[in-house]
Amino acid sequence: MSFTVDDVHVTFGETGALTGVSLTAGEGDQIALTGPSGAGKTTLLRLLNATVLPTSGTVSAFGKTLASLSPKELRAIRAKIALVPQDLALVPGLRVIQNVALGRLGTRGTLGGIRDFLFPARDTIAEIHNILERVGIPEKLYERTTSLSGGQQQRVAVARALFQKPRALIADEPVSSVDPDRARQLVELITKIATEDNITLLMSLHHHDLAQAYFPTIITLEAGKIITPPQKRASH
Ligand SMILES: Nc1ncnc2c1ncn2[C@@H]1O[C@H](COP(=O)(O)OP(=O)(O)O)[C@@H](O)[C@H]1O
Ligand SMILES: [Mg+2]
Repeated sequence: MSFTVDDVHVTFGETGALTGVSLTAGEGDQIALTGPSGAGKTTLLRLLNATVLPTSGTVSAFGKTLASLSPKELRAIRAKIALVPQDLALVPGLRVIQNVALGRLGTRGTLGGIRDFLFPARDTIAEIHNILERVGIPEKLYERTTSLSGGQQQRVAVARALFQKPRALIADEPVSSVDPDRARQLVELITKIATEDNITLLMSLHHHDLAQAYFPTIITLEAGKIITPPQKRASH
């Protein structure tokens, strides 16, 4: 089992961001989270790698209860869980290759990671080029990240996540800021790669139609609660 969320409540001050949410995600499952703004999608996704801790209830990833982990154990779990945050969190001053290389910086011995980041070995460069090929922008390897379009920057964030060789990918509205056609292409690409690499995928999506087109399972949140039981749909 990749993730288990069991009767979780998350409260920020007076706000109940999540109230009694439970879900499970098996290895290789692909789950879309939909629901209006403020429903709790981001909070639920952030629980999965312990960037938010439950006020009550438990969250486990790969068999470990997150709240009970030492910093070292938590680092090891987070190395398996790649994140594409809504704001992408790319470093604008860096070239594409460096932004992708950041995917592994937190997950290796610090010194080895920094060395490979500053002076990437030939193998590392080839690996990053290969990932950029998979996400459709191989020619951008040495470009300045800021010179890329919004859609291309989203692909860099996906490439950075894949460079981590994750077992799970968490993407928080990764297509919120591009036109519908590009959004569709990117969701199709991410689900295809997750299938090929057997990566557990959880993605929040504003567009319910995209979730329906590409995800076998959809969970809808409203006001901090799951209002639909997970629905199995015909796979695309
Ligand atoms: N760090 C925070 N501090 C205070 N309130 C928060 C915080 N994060 C989220 N919230 C609140 O929790 C609720 C759920 O937010 P969020 O998980 O971001 O929903 P969504 O991603 O579906 O838009 C909202 O009412 C939001 O204002
Ligand atoms: Mg959100």
